[in-house]
Amino acid sequence: MHDTTLAGGCDSPVRAGKAVGGTPFVQTRGSGAYAYDEAGARFVDYVMAYGPLLFGHAHPAFSSGLDTLARTGTLFGSTHGEEVRLAERIRAHVPSMERIRFTTTGTEAVMSAVRVARAYTRRPLVLRFGGNYHGHSDLALLGAGASAETADALAGGIPAAASADIALARYNDLSSVDAVLSSRERQLAAILVEPIVGNMGLVLPEPGFLEGLAERARRYGALVIFDEVISWLRLGLGGAQARVGIVPDLTTVGKILGGGFPIAAFGGNAEVMRVLAPHGSVFTGGTHAGNPFCVAMAHRTLDLLEERPDFYVQMNAIAERLAEGLRAMFRDLQLPYVVLQLESIVDFKFRSGRVRNYDDARASDARLFARYYHEMRARKILLPPSQNEVMFVSTAHTEADVDETLAAAREALERVTETVGEAGRTLRTG
Ligand SMILES: Cc1ncc(COP(=O)(O)O)c(C=O)c1O
Repeated sequence: MHDTTLAGGCDSPVRAGKAVGGTPFVQTRGSGAYAYDEAGARFVDYVMAYGPLLFGHAHPAFSSGLDTLARTGTLFGSTHGEEVRLAERIRAHVPSMERIRFTTTGTEAVMSAVRVARAYTRRPLVLRFGGNYHGHSDLALLGAGASAETADALAGGIPAAASADIALARYNDLSSVDAVLSSRERQLAAILVEPIVGNMGLVLPEPGFLEGLAERARRYGALVIFDEVISWLRLGLGGAQARVGIVPDLTTVGKILGGGFPIAAFGGNAEVMRVLAPHGSVFTGGTHAGNPFCVAMAHRTLDLLEERPDFYVQMNAIAERLAEGLRAMFRDLQLPYVVLQLESIVDFKFRSGRVRNYDDARASDARLFARYYHEMRARKILLPPSQNEVMFVSTAHTEADVDETLAAAREALERVTETVGEAGRTLRTG
């Protein structure tokens, strides 16, 4: 619709709704759990800006006192006490991040962590997993989830040299790891992984998978990088690493940290991080990195979460209500979809059986999802326009929002499955 000025009409293909067709959702404002369109209609929003809005839109902590804050300067070209204090606070919650450097986006955080790992090990190869999204740098895109599928490297603008030093394995499949690494183990710099995946829908690591990765990294003298850009703060102040009990060498965080403002970070083992200039020779930087305004917003995020541990209990209960409601509906309608819920993340796919990896995720019925998405949108429920994305619940979502969502989902599913004929019957019988 805005294709004459914005390339592709949006700032990303997922926002453009490439996977579902139709016109992209155009938002004019957000408030709490709701997004408003150009006509002023209110939608229950489960996109939540793809994760950052843990407290919903325009929470007072991130919309009040901003002019006062701005008056002391929004951007310094120097370090400042508050960014040091922020790093200390992050480290207190994620002890593996012994040294931290701030960036503006998750993309930069991952790019930089990988460069650090390559410099530290003096090796080129990075092992990644299909369906894990790590931002849009050259090294991150091939086979990535989150609707960032770039199958043809050259047509996607990625030089062969960038992909030559990426080994792409299947999530939850250690034998595929061994197969893609075979004879290249001594070139391996790092294993880059989402410890809990939010970018091919919600996919949990099976017992032994992350342990197997960590063991291989140690055996080959490589590093483990946990990309916690989605999972940190979404799954508590300790992130995914506190749950899985594995200490990565490097970690990337972002999204929720800024409470809706752009700030991200990477960090890890102090000795590894010493390769960064000025100690070492690895350059990373950024004009807006660690700016005082976003750092202040990050402090506000941590203030809220440290003061209100009950927020996690509350979001979990709301998400559980949504997940349970969907499960009951699928049983009722004899649909074979599996609903997953982890804390404030809820997900299901239009396929039967659990999703273990990206091949499973891609085997979901895209046509059914597209119809479901639009039926939900017509009922004023805003879902992410791709099955690779998940539904995010915030502290602003209420039981009433969930009940409205479930009522809409029932109508939408009935319409979608009754009108798809053969496909619907196949699904009903599993
Ligand atoms: C796990 C993960 N890593 C990295 C990124 C990139 O972050 P950003 O969009 O801030 O560049 C994302 C974004 O969705 C992500 O989900």
